[in-house]
Amino acid sequence: MSGEQIKAPRGTDDVLGEQAVARATLEARATAILQGAGYERIETPTFEATELFARGVGSSTDIVRKEMYTFADGGGRSLTLRPEGTAPVCRAYVQHGMHKLPQPVKLWYLSSFFRYERAQKGRYRQFWQVGAEALGSEDPAVDAESIVLLGALLREMGVSGVRLRLSSLGGAESRERYRERLQKHLRANEQRLSSEVRERIELNPLRAFDSAHEGTVATMLEAPKLLDELDAGDTEHFAEVRALLDRAGVAYEVDPTLVRGLDYYTRTVFEFTSDALGAQSGVGGGGRYDGLVEQLGGPATPGMGWAAGVERILLAGGPPAAGGHAVDLYVGFDVLGEDGSYPRVKRAAWEILCEARSAGLSAQLEMAGRSLKGQLGHANRLGARFVAIVGERDTVLKDMRDGSQETLDTDKTVHAALRGLRDLA
Ligand code: HAM
Repeated sequence: MSGEQIKAPRGTDDVLGEQAVARATLEARATAILQGAGYERIETPTFEATELFARGVGSSTDIVRKEMYTFADGGGRSLTLRPEGTAPVCRAYVQHGMHKLPQPVKLWYLSSFFRYERAQKGRYRQFWQVGAEALGSEDPAVDAESIVLLGALLREMGVSGVRLRLSSLGGAESRERYRERLQKHLRANEQRLSSEVRERIELNPLRAFDSAHEGTVATMLEAPKLLDELDAGDTEHFAEVRALLDRAGVAYEVDPTLVRGLDYYTRTVFEFTSDALGAQSGVGGGGRYDGLVEQLGGPATPGMGWAAGVERILLAGGPPAAGGHAVDLYVGFDVLGEDGSYPRVKRAAWEILCEARSAGLSAQLEMAGRSLKGQLGHANRLGARFVAIVGERDTVLKDMRDGSQETLDTDKTVHAALRGLRDLA
């Protein structure tokens, strides 16, 4: 009985072929860059208590209000598929008593995240992030290093047209002072604002900076800027972050209108954009979150980190690395064989495959019943260096580069292929 075709849900996709290879490359580069800077890999659960994100990400954010995949499990607990990685990493830091380790504790992840957003190119409902978090130090060098590392990853992945926007949100007090001034400005200009911004004056006035609505944009140009409200400590911290970035040769623009879609940020915030991305131009971003660990029930602990979208890095990145693993040896066989020889020939080919792999060759066996011609064509498509056509008595070893071939005792095939590869090295 045949059924109707079932497709992957909207906003999700399968990772296939070249994409899988490109992701492996990204993972290798991220591992080298981040481990080299002392970051250790962390893997947190795919779902967490809903409360973690409600409290951590902030109840006024779009993520918590509209975008979470929340469900009750069989025991009636409210769980949520992680929409981001910072709150889970902070939860793990507290849960495992990591404040007792030498600080800062540096952790990185490459995981899938879930947000119920309007799906389009570069914006998905299941997406992947590579992220890095450093907990336990408020040194501006942590901020600068963190930004430099993401810059290095984007460069290594060939992401083009990169811009770095940088700002500081200050601490909780200056933020609160500023919030009130901004609300006053927004109320005074209420009739010029989009309805969406108007509705959020009380809840989240800073998001007005994100609006593309004409009247709102004009109003925000005249709005007071948070950067002008920072206290002395925050101003000094921000100046030091910039000085360190200058010393590292990193170009950036200070953008006092930069707001991020999560509530936990304090002091430094930043975002890398790429003009290769179109509407969804944010390739990665982050900032400092000095109150988050405490808010999640841990000891007062500063934190700084970022996350970048894997799909967006690959969309904006250079050409994917050459596909797949090279195949040293493709093991084919004479499908016709002599009468009754097929099982024996196939078993001999199987043995050559196993032996070749034990000897360190990358090898593949014919498994689709192709004709001899078909097998050679397939080996060619795979880019195989040698093809062995295993016969009842003899095996023909063909060098795919120069077309030469020799007929060997079957049990000498692997040895000859190895010798051939050694001669090439
Ligand atoms: P975020 O800006 O929400 O920050 O996400 C970081 C990156 O994830 C974005 O720049 C974008 O590349 C990618 N991204 C976000 N949503 C989607 C989506 N729906 N589809 C595809 N890609 C997406 C955070 O998540 C913070 N946790 C970053 C952070 C870490 N801050 C401090 N530490």
